[in-house]
Amino acid sequence: MSSATGRHCRQDTLSDAPCPDWDPRDPQVQSDQILAYDHMRETCPVAYSDYLGWSLFRHADILRVLNDHDTFSNVVSRHISVPNGMDPPEHTGYRRMIEPYFTKERVDSVEPACRDIARDLVASLKENPSCDLMTEFAEPYAVRIQCAFLGWPQSLHEPLRQWVRKNREATLARDTEAMASIALEFDGHIRSQLDWREEAGAAAPDDITTSLVRQEVYGKRLEHGQIVSILRNWTVGELGTIAACVGIIVRFLAEHQEVQSLLRRDRARLPQAIDEILRLDGPLIANRRRAARSVTIGECGISEGERMTVTGLRQTATRR
Ligand code: HEM
Repeated sequence: MSSATGRHCRQDTLSDAPCPDWDPRDPQVQSDQILAYDHMRETCPVAYSDYLGWSLFRHADILRVLNDHDTFSNVVSRHISVPNGMDPPEHTGYRRMIEPYFTKERVDSVEPACRDIARDLVASLKENPSCDLMTEFAEPYAVRIQCAFLGWPQSLHEPLRQWVRKNREATLARDTEAMASIALEFDGHIRSQLDWREEAGAAAPDDITTSLVRQEVYGKRLEHGQIVSILRNWTVGELGTIAACVGIIVRFLAEHQEVQSLLRRDRARLPQAIDEILRLDGPLIANRRRAARSVTIGECGISEGERMTVTGLRQTATRR
């Protein structure tokens, strides 16, 4: 990792591109991203890398980006992404349409299924003296609860898990050919869920996927591509995030025996503890934007169209 105070914003004299200040894929960065971000905030708060474009580490810069969608757009990809890849005013209607899917009543209604799934998985772990928590608990837990939430069958558990793994590998390797064929494969899984619901009409099950098939926004039915995008976010986007949350919580409790004992004695504190553990060590610590016009942040000139990343805001001192 570069400790490059004042080094950022240099141009490569041959290509005119900014010189990289750091490498987000450096093993040292990957081993503790929050620590690396804290270091960058001190040494190079507006940093360029080939992998992420411009990364911002300062609170004030990040707030500026998040609050000004005219200058810093959410439209970061040429692929449709509903609603997170949209800006207002388009975003507003899609967000309003999605919100009822996450009311307390709706989320509460899947809680018993989530508890059953967790109990089942814990019971199956008891047969093993040791196990890999992520592959044997967190990932299957995430895929099963999301399928329960969406009304998808058990037969999709394993294909979706494999799909997420392949997608992650292709994305990290930036293998665009593999990513395109993996996207088509996902489309097939979703299509199979949409087609029979459309054919069943009024006899289709009363679940979230059926609601999406009938959903309107701005007075028009959602298009197939929009439904696929929403479902892709709620599976691909979230399976990794949910699994990561499980891993973070279990690791924290393993490393903090006193907190674990306290929570075993007083389970009423669990919701608060979970929120706090995930606040200290969140599963998603970076978010993408794109400069919609040329702009200066700190001393760095960022050109229209360049990729940007806003990063986690905390100092490690509050974390451990
Ligand atoms: C469990 C941990 C989760 C974390 C930490 C998380 C975090 C995030 C973050 C950082 C964003 C992007 C906000 C932005 O672009 O400014 C986001 C967007 C979103 N997430 Fe999650 N998420 C989680 C779980 C879920 C789940 C389970 C679902 C749905 C089943 C979900 C649905 C969404 C939607 C619909 C958006 C787009 C919001 C918008 O653009 O208005 N998230 N989430």
